[in-house]
Amino acid sequence: MAKPSQATWGGRFSAGPADLMLAFSESVSFDQRLAPFDIQGSKAHAAMLAHVGIITVKERDAIRTGLDAILAEIEAGNFMWDTKLEDVHMNIEQALTKNVPAAARLHTARSRNDQVATDMRLFFKYACSVIGEKIAAAQRAILAVAEANADVLVPGYTHLQRAQPVYLAHHLFAYLEMLQRDRARFVEVGAHANWCPLGAGAIAGTTLPIDREFAATQLGFVDAKGRPQVTQNSMDAVADRDVFIEFASACALFGVHLSRIAEDLILWMSAEFKFVELPDAFCTGSSLMPQKKNPDSCELMRGKSARLQGNLHTLLTLAKGLPLTYNRDLQEDKPPVFDSFDQSAMCADVLAGTIAGMTVNRTRCAEAVSDPALLATDLADYLVNKGVPFREAHHAVGAVVKIAEKLSVKLNNLPLEEVQSVHRAFGADWVHVFDLEHAMAKRTGTGMPGKAQTKKQFARWKKLLAE
Ligand code: ARG
Repeated sequence: MAKPSQATWGGRFSAGPADLMLAFSESVSFDQRLAPFDIQGSKAHAAMLAHVGIITVKERDAIRTGLDAILAEIEAGNFMWDTKLEDVHMNIEQALTKNVPAAARLHTARSRNDQVATDMRLFFKYACSVIGEKIAAAQRAILAVAEANADVLVPGYTHLQRAQPVYLAHHLFAYLEMLQRDRARFVEVGAHANWCPLGAGAIAGTTLPIDREFAATQLGFVDAKGRPQVTQNSMDAVADRDVFIEFASACALFGVHLSRIAEDLILWMSAEFKFVELPDAFCTGSSLMPQKKNPDSCELMRGKSARLQGNLHTLLTLAKGLPLTYNRDLQEDKPPVFDSFDQSAMCADVLAGTIAGMTVNRTRCAEAVSDPALLATDLADYLVNKGVPFREAHHAVGAVVKIAEKLSVKLNNLPLEEVQSVHRAFGADWVHVFDLEHAMAKRTGTGMPGKAQTKKQFARWKKLLAE
């Protein structure tokens, strides 16, 4: 027997969708989380319809009260979601229709195409601000570790080989820079989301005398001066998924940063480095090896970054071959977006928790940074100060390093005669170069790891991250 036709769009059908088709096409299982935004959008739409006289003020109020009741029901977990009604939009509209006769007028001059575009833009504005705040919290945790270990020096690495000494704080400030750019990106994506597509209808607007600016203002799609921002082309408004891609891209890049930070921490916690100890609360043990304490939170952040990149790729591929305007393919835009949001938000929290509980092994850091070879470049600079061209100085210091290696002595323990045999410009004062404090004091330029600069950066970050 043929199934009864669908409640909202079934007019031209003599039979409803097959169960398999329902299961295949429903999105309510994942888009129900848009309910608060959908209801907000519907309330604004109803207000606009009343404003232009398409519905009465009484009808508007009945719709508003009914929607508030549905939201309360959803939040209490008592709402019965029905996959037969496909998505969040039709579930809410049908539930409203049961109790509020005026609900039959709510979908006037609106399509699910502009409705879902509006819901998602409201979601993005929310999601960008949530992630921004969470990243700021992680930054504050990093700043606190930097402050508690302000005097700790570590080797900085290139090619994962010891390069030059830096304050640990300087290394941690590099993370703050990365995360600060992420925050700026999320602010930017939020701003791109801040245009109201409502009124675009299914594709070509409506013949009814709606007031798009009124609805946009109601929903907070306004510029800094409070002026409404509405999308300027009805076809683009329902086809455009740029913000989805930009959001997923900001999450993917945030993920890359997380992954690189995680990789540092994993290395630093290994017995080979032992610069830090990560908190028990964010590590796990081995089911077989009793001695193990594994940096799983960091490994998972590194792993999740792959997932965030995958979501971005899904969205790019989803959009690329579609003819204008809306195609049902676009329903697949939501799972990757929600996943990127959930995982990014959780990663930011996990980063904050992991860093907040991290302790620094000062002894190991001091040992590692005491390697005089880290100041070989300073030694070349010493020769430059004596008038030696840098290339010549570089070569000479290289030769000195080679001798030290051959004699198995530390660079700063070489006898003056050995050094002078390499280059006559080396004087009796050459070993002063290896005074670490002195060496750090010399790095005075902006962005360098010198003592005074680090102090400046502390002040800058405290200001930038003040709550
Ligand atoms: N659930 C749909 C989606 O997420 C809503 C839009 C449906 N529009 C349509 N013409 N079938 O894409």
